[in-house]
Amino acid sequence: MKRAALVVIVLLLAGLALPISNLVVGLPPNSISKAKVEDPAFNKALHVLGTKCVNCHTSEYTLPFYAKFPVAKQMIEADIRLGTRHLNYVEALFPAESGPVSEPVLVKTEQVLRENSMPPMRYVALHWDGAMSRAEREAVLAWIKAVRTKHYVTPGVAPQFADEPVQPLPESLNPDAAKVALGDKLFHDKRLSKDNSLACAGCHGLDKGGTDQQQFSEGVGKQFGGVNAPTVFNSGLQFKMFWDGRAATLEEQADGPVNNPIEMASNWDEAIPKLQQDAEFTQAFNAVYPQGYSKETITEAIAMFERSLLTPGRFDQFLRGDAKALTDEEQQGYQRFKSANCVSCHVGPLLGGRSFEIMGLYKDYFQDRGKTDKPDFGRFNVTAKEEDRFKLKVPTLRNIARTFPYFHDGSTSDLLQAVKTMGKYQTEDGISDGDAALIAKFLQSLTGTYNGKAL
Ligand code: HEC
Ligand code: HEC
Ligand code: HEC
Repeated sequence: MKRAALVVIVLLLAGLALPISNLVVGLPPNSISKAKVEDPAFNKALHVLGTKCVNCHTSEYTLPFYAKFPVAKQMIEADIRLGTRHLNYVEALFPAESGPVSEPVLVKTEQVLRENSMPPMRYVALHWDGAMSRAEREAVLAWIKAVRTKHYVTPGVAPQFADEPVQPLPESLNPDAAKVALGDKLFHDKRLSKDNSLACAGCHGLDKGGTDQQQFSEGVGKQFGGVNAPTVFNSGLQFKMFWDGRAATLEEQADGPVNNPIEMASNWDEAIPKLQQDAEFTQAFNAVYPQGYSKETITEAIAMFERSLLTPGRFDQFLRGDAKALTDEEQQGYQRFKSANCVSCHVGPLLGGRSFEIMGLYKDYFQDRGKTDKPDFGRFNVTAKEEDRFKLKVPTLRNIARTFPYFHDGSTSDLLQAVKTMGKYQTEDGISDGDAALIAKFLQSLTGTYNGKAL
């Protein structure tokens, strides 16, 4: 914060060197300030964000005319680079998949408006019309609330938690029961692997929090992959599959490991004849899928089973109104989790699984860890866009006490250490050891039940 004050003073002095008329104009209009949409609440918010925010949060900007002054140019370019790294509002407000604006974007926007921390002080000091008025702030907050109410509230949540970023798990994702039963069998069937040695459950043990509790998974023939296996529990609520999001759905995902040479090392042409030799299972399968075995039917059954893997627990009871479901310490931990801004990425019913975020937003995690490898590049491996380098899918924190080791590189099995790492690399101000301990207590309360049994 001291640094920020210094920057303001330096910039104010630099500002005096510019003709005063240049200081009172904002950044030039952009595509969003001119956009028109049906929804009036969104229209209002777009106008505000478009005039006051988007220019520093998009790669489609044009620098204003006064940017030719050396100090201003450097400053503005740096702000735009950094601002866009944190959040690209053009992509965020008009997502490629044309769904509603994502929960993490809503939380992040809400957070900076509540704290009145955007636009940055150094910018407002030079652009007197850059600050947001109270009415503008309220228009954007009203829109955020409207989007949440319409798209992101879990039915049955207690009224006091209805407008919160974290939500209880839904009661059910309503998968087809007959297909779930088949998928359960297939998920535990080693015949899907080349040498009949490994089932999905071998790396996603339902008795191990839906993971293998190993840093890297051991595939067929003692081969190891380069990323930690995430949990299959609650995976029906993940917005995309894999750390880099390369599969859009559970169906698409289930095709991956069977064909992956260092996982199950097989393919459908090898696996299906093996299943066909099993008269009993084939009869049961054909009763549900008259078209018989295929990549499509098998992966659908597995995906249906995964959609049944919800693990409600004490935290859900708490969010549904039972104030005693969490201890005082756990509740304090939840408050710290929110105030430390962990919710800006760990959001929704999964406390994660809704966005790709840079690992090392405030400090360089990978430099501190040592050399980087392809899996570290995350989303970049799919989009080849430089701004996606080191962006990983935010993992769910559900059942976190059971899903160690942590992070895509499986670099620690100590939950408290993982929380401290997050505080160091993902939050602006860091977190105290006391808060980290409380947050870890809260995270331990996220262990749920499956089929009525505690994980
Ligand atoms: C002059 C450029 C500039 C303007 C204008 C600006 N921002 Fe930012 N914004 C930044 C920079 C730079 C960062 C990176 C963090 C920092 O420096 O504080 C950032 C970070 C953010 C973040 C991310 C915080 C996080 O948790 O990662 C949000 C959200 C945000 N801005 C929203 C807004 C909103 C809303 C407005 C309009 C009211 C706005 N910004 C206007 C430059 C700008
Ligand atoms: C050899 C161990 C191994 C086997 C066998 C295996 N997986 Fe995985 N699974 C992983 C690893 C490692 C990842 C993460 C890979 C990545 O993100 O690049 C993963 C990712 C997933 C995910 C994505 C979860 C998320 O949040 O992104 C799902 C779902 C999943 N596996 C289900 C299955 C199913 C279904 C099978 C059987 C058809 C299976 N896995 C077999 C190791 C395994
Ligand atoms: C800017 C987004 C962001 C913020 C803020 C953030 N996280 Fe994370 N979190 C991530 C990402 C991305 C990962 C995965 C990183 C990796 O695998 O290398 C992660 C991983 C984790 C993990 C390990 C989960 C697992 O199964 O591997 C824990 C625990 C965690 N975060 C807790 C927290 C806590 C507590 C806070 C607040 C102090 C926090 N996070 C703030 C993005 C964020």
